[in-house]
This record gives sequence, C-alpha cells and structure tokens, in this order.
Amino acid sequence: MTILGIETSCDETAAAIVEKKDGKLLLRSNIISSSLDLHAETGGIIPEIAARKQIEFIHPVLQKALEESFGKGKTSELFSQIDAIAVTYGPGLIGSLLVGVETAKTLSLALNKPLIPVNHMVGHIYANFIDTAEESIRKEQIQFPALALVVSGGHTDLLLMKAHGEFQLLGGTRDDAAGECFDKCARLLGYNYPGGPKIAQLATKGDPKHIPFPRPMLGSHDYDFSFSGLKTAFLNETKKHFPILRNNISPNEKIGWQQAVVENNLTPKEKQTIYDLCASLEDAIFTVLIKKLSKAAKEYTVQSILLSGGVAADKKLRERLGAMVEQLPDTNLFFPTKKLCTDNAAMIAAAAAYAGKPVPWENITADPELYFDEN
Ligand code: KG4
Ligand code: ZN
Repeated sequence: MTILGIETSCDETAAAIVEKKDGKLLLRSNIISSSLDLHAETGGIIPEIAARKQIEFIHPVLQKALEESFGKGKTSELFSQIDAIAVTYGPGLIGSLLVGVETAKTLSLALNKPLIPVNHMVGHIYANFIDTAEESIRKEQIQFPALALVVSGGHTDLLLMKAHGEFQLLGGTRDDAAGECFDKCARLLGYNYPGGPKIAQLATKGDPKHIPFPRPMLGSHDYDFSFSGLKTAFLNETKKHFPILRNNISPNEKIGWQQAVVENNLTPKEKQTIYDLCASLEDAIFTVLIKKLSKAAKEYTVQSILLSGGVAADKKLRERLGAMVEQLPDTNLFFPTKKLCTDNAAMIAAAAAYAGKPVPWENITADPELYFDEN
C-alpha cells in the first residue's frame, strides 16, 4: 500500500510518500518547504504569513514528492500509483491547516482515492515506525504496550499506547510546552525561533548543576508537566547576572546586550554564565521529563518507549533517556531520525498506514483545537 501524506499544520508545507510492504514502512520521498525564515525576526509564527506561504508551497511540494518517488511523468500517471491520501486535520493554525485539508479533499474527490484524516500529534508518534537507512542499526521492533512522549513546541504529552491507534493520555503540560520554554528563554538571550537547538548548542559548554532551577511538578502524583514557571526562573536568574536586563533600561540597551550574546561578544566570564544558564535549564527540563517517563514505564510495564516531536532531536535528551532505559531490562527506546522529529508529512502517512481510517471527504473539517482523546 502506498500513501501520500500531507502536512500543513503550522509553518512547514510537507508532502511525503511511504510504502507499507512486508510489515515495513519504507520512506519513498519526504519533501518539506518552510516559511520559518519569515517568522524568525518576530520570534513567533505569524499565522497570516504562514497560511499564505502554505498556499504558495503546496503544489510544488506535492509535485516534488511524486517525482522523487516515481520519477518524472504525467501527473495523472504519478497519482495513479497512490492508494490513499493522508492529511493532518489538527491541531494547528486554522489558515495553515485549511490549505492541506482542502487540497487533500480535492485530490480525494478528483482521483477517487480514500482520504485518511490524521491527528498531528499521533503523526509525531508514528515517525518512530518509519524505516530509514539508519533503521538497520535498530535491533528490536516496537512492541506494545508502549509509552509515547511527544515533546514539541506546542505539546509535552505522555501517552500509553496499547496497540496501533489506541492511546490513553496519561498527562500533558498545564501551561507552556518544553519546546516553548526553550524558545522563550532563547528569545530572551536574543536568539530567533526555534530556540531549542541554540540552547542545546550553548549548553554543551555549560555546567548543568551550576544554577539550581526548579524541577516543576517533579514530585506530583500525576503525569502532568508545567514549564512556564521555569521560564520566569530563567528570566530572574539571567537578570541577576546581567543587571542590564533589570528595570529602567532602554529597549536599545537590551537589544545591544542580546546582540552581544548572539555575536559571542561577551567577556569570558559572561559567556560562561550564558552556557551555565542554558545547561542548567536543559537539565531542569530533561530531569522532569525523564523522571516522569521512568515512573510511567514502571507503572505500566511497557515494552517500548517512543520519543517524538521537535525536542526529541536533542542529543542530550536522547543520551539521558538511553541511560534511563538501560535500567529497564525489558524496555527498548526508539526515536525518529532528526529530520523526522520536527514537522513532516512522512509521519502523517505512517500514522495513516498503521492506524488510519478513511473518512468521506465531505465529513473532514480542519480542527485547530483537536486533542488526543478526540482522535
Ligand atoms: O515538532 P516541532 O517541529 O513543531 C511543533 O509541532 O511544535 O517542534 C518544534 C520545537 C521548537 O520548540 C524547537 O525549539 C524544538 O522543537 N527543537 C529542539 C531541537 N530541535 C527543535 N529542542 C531542543 N533541541 C533540539 N535539537
Ligand atoms: Zn509538530
């Protein structure tokens, strides 16, 4: 079975083709265009610009995904090799989602192919099921029950996955997501979105134990998370070390300081403080994620742990999780390749291949607020 996936929930316009064959899911093409650069200056996604770019990118991205999979040819012939179409219908930005959903509905109608709506968050988890070149080093196959941690810019969710498509939400963030916390702290230092990779890079030179940031909800008896307080703690701690950020400074002074951080123009001592701030922030976030994951893995005696979402690309998080899973003899850890951690359409096609149900195109509507339990 060959599935065309379409993903347009935020600032990425993506189309991918996967083929399910002999119990494996092969990636035939994975095309992504992004409007990220246009949002970098403002520090956050501008929905109107993201939606306009989705419209501009969707057809070239679709064509490229088809050609990369099947070679050049008449579009109708290329489309004839597709068995089904999968599309993200939420959560996300309404203007962006609509572009993918309406494109997919039109294709389903015109080509008379089944259309499978996919929850973006479920898609992130299914990135773990795609066989890529690196897959050959994977020794164990994913087995259920599995524990899935989705750590992205919008979500920090912990789910029990009992079988394909069967999810129980164990907990989620009550305010900011882990990725959002990284993005906002990086912004304070003057770095554009996405801040996660920048914090990760600076953290490699810092001491993770230097600043005792709070470990929010570490001891709570549930599987919820909260990261907005940590962002405030990061702000207060940064102000302590850099008086220039305290009240009564002009915006220009603040911008000047941020420029100095970004351009690496600080004194050696100041640089080290920035590295320590980043390493300590990372340590606080990862400690909470790992503790809760470990507790849930034991409570539900899971066979597999599936990491996903943009923050899953973080090397340190992967290493620390790897060390944690070594303590669990019957559990294996999985994470997607870096390119499949952040938003892409291959994960959407993968979710459809394993757990999707076709729905008549007339009954599919974009749902920006879609959550797990509604899937
Ligand atoms: O999954 P994603 O691409 O988009 C959402 O659905 O939100 O995740 C984006 C998030 C951003 O917050 C970004 O800062 C974070 O993932 N991120 C990282 C890394 N790469 C992306 N965080 C930490 N380390 C990374 N290497
Ligand atoms: Zn995402």
